[in-house]
Amino acid sequence: MIVIYWSGCREDEVTPPQTNQTKLNLNDFASAQSCVFCHPNHYNEWSGSMHHYATNDPIWMNSINSLQASTNGKLKDWCWQCHSPIGFLTGNAPSTFQLSDLQPLVREGVTCDVCHSMLPPHTTTNQTIAYNVKPGRTKYGPIADAQPNMVHESKYESSFTRSEQCRACHDLISNNIPVEITFTEWQNSTWGAMSVECQNCHMPTYTGQAAVGGPVRDNVHRHDFIGVDVAMTDFPNKTEQRNAVDSLLKKSASLFLDAPMNASVNDSVQFTVRVYNDRTGHNLPSSVFFNRQMWLEVTVSNGSDTVYRSGYLDTNGDLMDKNSALRPNEDIDLTLFGGALYKNGHETNVFEMDSLVNNSIPAFQSRIARYRFKVPHAGTWNLKARLLFRPFGPYLFRSLNAEQYISQLPVFEMNVQTTSVEVR
Ligand code: HEC
Ligand code: HEC
Ligand code: HEC
Ligand code: HEC
Ligand code: HEC
Repeated sequence: MIVIYWSGCREDEVTPPQTNQTKLNLNDFASAQSCVFCHPNHYNEWSGSMHHYATNDPIWMNSINSLQASTNGKLKDWCWQCHSPIGFLTGNAPSTFQLSDLQPLVREGVTCDVCHSMLPPHTTTNQTIAYNVKPGRTKYGPIADAQPNMVHESKYESSFTRSEQCRACHDLISNNIPVEITFTEWQNSTWGAMSVECQNCHMPTYTGQAAVGGPVRDNVHRHDFIGVDVAMTDFPNKTEQRNAVDSLLKKSASLFLDAPMNASVNDSVQFTVRVYNDRTGHNLPSSVFFNRQMWLEVTVSNGSDTVYRSGYLDTNGDLMDKNSALRPNEDIDLTLFGGALYKNGHETNVFEMDSLVNNSIPAFQSRIARYRFKVPHAGTWNLKARLLFRPFGPYLFRSLNAEQYISQLPVFEMNVQTTSVEVR
């Protein structure tokens, strides 16, 4: 049974996915533009965030347009639920579209008025998300003693300070399989047990005004929602966002490189690289783990000769695994912490899947990769391991007719370790 909540009413037994739910109207929602005058920091940070990018993302658009064709329209407005609740709830979620066709309010994606009118219960259901969006004059938030203003009422709602506020969209179950489940991963982790909430890591606090003219508070929250993704198009604060992703990723995991100090010529030398997810509040990577690429690049060299390498890219920029068009499966030792979705044993998409393989690293767990090399002659051999991350592989962009964005794809270095082996 699927239950959808909105505006306080309750409807039972709705068959997902739903199309053209006109229960709410566009003019029930306010644009982020109408908040900028009094909340300039919040607006500025949000405008460069992935929550704003959610409906400005050509990869998202191309994915929907191609899935709509391959499922003969069965997809309907499924993908809109989280990327544009306003589009979904007001019936402004076209089956196929160009971004420029969308209503301006729909193009704001996960905008201020979506989150600040979203009330409990925050639950996870199969296929159709259960959220309770009550737009209107009252803005709900974390401040119990908000100073009155001329434009809106303010109301304290305790879930804003807790992870459950994020749950409806960050816990995706498809065909009864929990798949993009950052919330569940967090809840089952020590972070969840310690009540270190999503907001603690993704909405850090600063001292300042929550609104122009309001009191100075010591717990105003950043709204740039830094994660791992970056805009591929021209987008506000693009450089700042990329730099912030880079520094978040550098604080995500520890790396240990363990090798013998000495070896003899022609020995088969074994060494290990351990990745420890000690600082990410959920799996690493999380959510769309099947698209993310986090991998180990490993090199053994003496400066002039390289006797071993893994985790390098082909001339298309792809890892040499099954997705390489030029050198498929050549990198047999490749350590990639991703995964894939399947239907009847064939790789598929999140809408049609019936099973999955997930090689991401849960919070406070490690993965160990083992490597072996042979040294042809004596001397000092340097071992280097880098933990690298990029939101997508170029192969995915090519498959979605989005090759023009490949040059925009960054590779972030999360961690690097080196050691050396003396060979006699
Ligand atoms: C993805 C959901 C989300 C979006 C989008 C969002 N907010 Fe928030 N906002 C929150 C949460 C959650 C908190 C409370 C964080 C806490 O207390 O731990 C918050 C707090 C606030 C506060 C109280 C002061 C503070 O910083 O704690 C104001 C004001 C605010 N947001 C305004 C805005 C405005 C204006 C926008 C759009 C430009 C916006 N928010 C977009 C989730 C969101
Ligand atoms: C239950 C909510 C939900 C639904 C339904 C959903 N998504 Fe998402 N999607 C998310 C969240 C949350 C993220 C961010 C996760 C992350 O960054 O790892 C995301 C990320 C993505 C990304 C990567 C971000 C980017 O910049 O490109 C793509 C592409 C995407 N979704 C496409 C889709 C498509 C296509 C559908 C429908 C088949 C869909 N989503 C349905 C919540 C959802
Ligand atoms: C005329 C100025 C003004 C405008 C315009 C305005 N706000 Fe506010 N807002 C305030 C003031 C003042 C506060 C109280 C700040 C405080 O007490 O620290 C506030 C508080 C809030 C809070 C915190 C509520 C709580 O109790 O936690 C939220 C959320 C919020 N505003 C969202 C919005 C959103 C979303 C918009 C645009 C749709 C918006 N505001 C437009 C002035 C404004
Ligand atoms: C202890 C700090 C911490 C907590 C708590 C935390 N996160 Fe994260 N989050 C991170 C770090 C670090 C990254 C970057 C590494 C990664 O990819 O997971 C991240 C990445 C993400 C991503 C992008 C994931 C990807 O790999 O594509 C999403 C989405 C996200 N967090 C959402 C959430 C949500 C929702 C919650 C609460 C349920 C949460 N986070 C709790 C630290 C945290
Ligand atoms: C209405 C649905 C919705 C809600 C509620 C929501 N998110 Fe998101 N979030 C998304 C979508 C969709 C994306 C991916 C957008 C994209 O990349 O195109 C996203 C992206 C993110 C990212 C960036 C991930 C990346 O890979 O860079 C972070 C971090 C994040 N959300 C944290 C939060 C936190 C923390 C909360 C709760 C305070 C929250 N979200 C509430 C829908 C939502």
